[in-house]
Amino acid sequence: MQKSSMSRRRFLQSTGTAAIWLPTSVRGYSANEVQALYIDGEMQGEVSKWELDTPSLCVDLDLLEENIAKMQETLSANGIASRPHAKTHKTPIIAQMQLDAGSVGICTAKVSEAEVMFQNGIDRILMTTTNVTPTKIRRAMKLRQRCPGFIQATDSTVNANLLSQAASTMNITADVVVDIDPGGHRTGITPGQSALELAKLIDQLPGLNLRGLLCYDGGSQHVKGFEQRKSQTLERLVAATETYDLFFRGGLSTEIFSGGGTGTYNIDHETRGLTDVQVGSYVFMDSQYMDIGGESNSEIYSDFQTSLTILSTVLNDQYEGRATTDAGAKACTINKPWARIKGESGMSFSSGSDEFGTIRYEKEASRTYKVGDKVELIVSHCDPVVNLYNHMYAIRGDRVEAVWQIAARGMSA
Ligand SMILES: Cc1ncc(COP(=O)(O)O)c(C=O)c1O
Repeated sequence: MQKSSMSRRRFLQSTGTAAIWLPTSVRGYSANEVQALYIDGEMQGEVSKWELDTPSLCVDLDLLEENIAKMQETLSANGIASRPHAKTHKTPIIAQMQLDAGSVGICTAKVSEAEVMFQNGIDRILMTTTNVTPTKIRRAMKLRQRCPGFIQATDSTVNANLLSQAASTMNITADVVVDIDPGGHRTGITPGQSALELAKLIDQLPGLNLRGLLCYDGGSQHVKGFEQRKSQTLERLVAATETYDLFFRGGLSTEIFSGGGTGTYNIDHETRGLTDVQVGSYVFMDSQYMDIGGESNSEIYSDFQTSLTILSTVLNDQYEGRATTDAGAKACTINKPWARIKGESGMSFSSGSDEFGTIRYEKEASRTYKVGDKVELIVSHCDPVVNLYNHMYAIRGDRVEAVWQIAARGMSA
């Protein structure tokens, strides 16, 4: 659909009427105006994405739905479940779409994200980060009190004791999983005997109910080349599987053995015992993931489509070889590789300046831009980009179909 809009623009340019595409002639909507048109889940009127004020965050609904369906189909065929990570989208409506498609629950990274998800009707939540401070432990236990489907990760005996005390004080039984370190030493307990001792302790402590283990191998997700990624992650998860066996032989719960992500979703089922994958980025995709290569396409990871884009406007076209847009670091982050211009070639984009993005044309640029033109950017790394916006526009074709609150945006505590 972007193409039809572009060709209309080209047509107008070729007929000498390009000026009508300058901002003064476009109806143009502010974020508040579009939100005011979105009543009871329905857009009252036709708004094209090209008329949105910029920078704005857009999600292509067809692509989003295809990504969710493809993930679910692949995992089902491989005999493994999905427990998607809501840290990526922070948007309850998308979490609900994932559950409706068959996910067994969702994950959150922060207790505040979990609270927001629960307030918005999501009640099967695995929090993958250990809460260590008394405040956060209290919040997690309060959430567990209201939400029986809330499960909390823990990775030390000290922490398990604190969880037990807090749960006992509140007269609840809290569900917990043991977080296993896959070797990156970021979080988790060492697999093997240490993890087994922790699981045994949890099993005995009052107020706690052991549900199993998790092991997220973040270090393998972006390894370039499918075969390299496969051998690394399968090797790194051997110790977690051995720990799973220790739990099983010790009569401890192995009901949940969660791990894996977008980069390894079609590999993780080969890790024996793994019950579900905590896939996050697949819903949106980004240029970081595009570069890793897939099983069927070694150059570009094209298993899932880039549904999330930032719409921006050209502010300056006066200088040879470049143009300036209104989306800089505060709209795109400074993550690398930089965002990419959707549907165009022979040009690069960078967002090093706070409020300005830079387009640089190469020799074979597919087009050039005029002031007021819109530029659609494939995001660099979806999670931190989403966290910069209060809402995203849900687009079908070119039409704004919904305005979704990113309700857990900024929930970083
Ligand atoms: C614990 C955990 N699980 C799952 C994910 C999702 O990973 P991905 O976006 O690669 O699917 C992340 C992402 O950082 C994570 O930290």
